[in-house]
Amino acid sequence: VTGASRGIGLAIATRLAREGFDLTVSARTPATLDPVAAELGALAVAADMGVAEDVDRLADAHEAAFGRLDVLVISAGTGTVTPIEQTTTSRFDKQLAVNLRSPFQLVARLLPAMKATATRAPQHGAKVVAIASITGMASEPGMSVYGATKAGLISLCETINVEASAFGVSATAISPGYVDTDMTTWVHDQVPPASMITVDDIAELAVAITRLSARAVVPNVPVVRTGATLWRA
Ligand SMILES: NC(=O)c1ccc[n+]([C@@H]2O[C@H](COP(=O)([O-])OP(=O)(O)OC[C@H]3O[C@@H](n4cnc5c(N)ncnc54)[C@H](OP(=O)(O)O)[C@@H]3O)[C@@H](O)[C@H]2O)c1
Repeated sequence: VTGASRGIGLAIATRLAREGFDLTVSARTPATLDPVAAELGALAVAADMGVAEDVDRLADAHEAAFGRLDVLVISAGTGTVTPIEQTTTSRFDKQLAVNLRSPFQLVARLLPAMKATATRAPQHGAKVVAIASITGMASEPGMSVYGATKAGLISLCETINVEASAFGVSATAISPGYVDTDMTTWVHDQVPPASMITVDDIAELAVAITRLSARAVVPNVPVVRTGATLWRA
């Protein structure tokens, strides 16, 4: 589970540990990651998903420790809200690397292990669960790069399904609107946290996906807040 030290990733990791999964948990900051790993009995690998070498090191550490991969949860993500004309290429590159390149790299590196796991457990197969965003399905002002990376992540999940589901490996993007986490404190004056989706809602969906048989492929699960407008963050 990437991005496992806080927010959505923490909620998913906590539930998967409760379900009996042996976990590798990852985030950049050991001070917040290590206590989570201790609590969940998980392997902690501090890694920056914006740094290609870190991503490879995370995949290698998981494989060396467990030798199999039933579920890859991709929750690490980053975003900045700026109009297109004020968005620098360095902000573009950072979001692209964390939100899209690192998922691609993890999947590319770990697909052989996931296919091998699926071969050993054909009923269940192996699953990728990637936290995308509703902004990857319908644009929001100020989120040009973030939304593009999440649209790319949704597309990556689709490609995993067409390339690997015949081998038992499927992928699901979960695409929420605003979820009440550290990532959304900036918008509290417009969207009260009590009106946001909860991390438990997203974790519930993620765990449900891990329980499906290998026959069912769920490419994308949009999740939006209550109110009159669908498909908005
Ligand atoms: N909250 C929302 O409204 C919302 C809605 C739709 C989609 N999402 C997506 O859901 C995912 C989780 O978001 P969240 O709301 O749970 O965020 P969060 O509460 O801010 O947690 C982010 C997690 O990712 C880690 N992380 C951040 N940057 C990283 C990097 N460069 N490398 C490795 N780990 C990194 C953080 O730990 P460190 O800081 O220690 O690295 C933390 O564990 C993201 O992909 C986000 O885009 C969120």
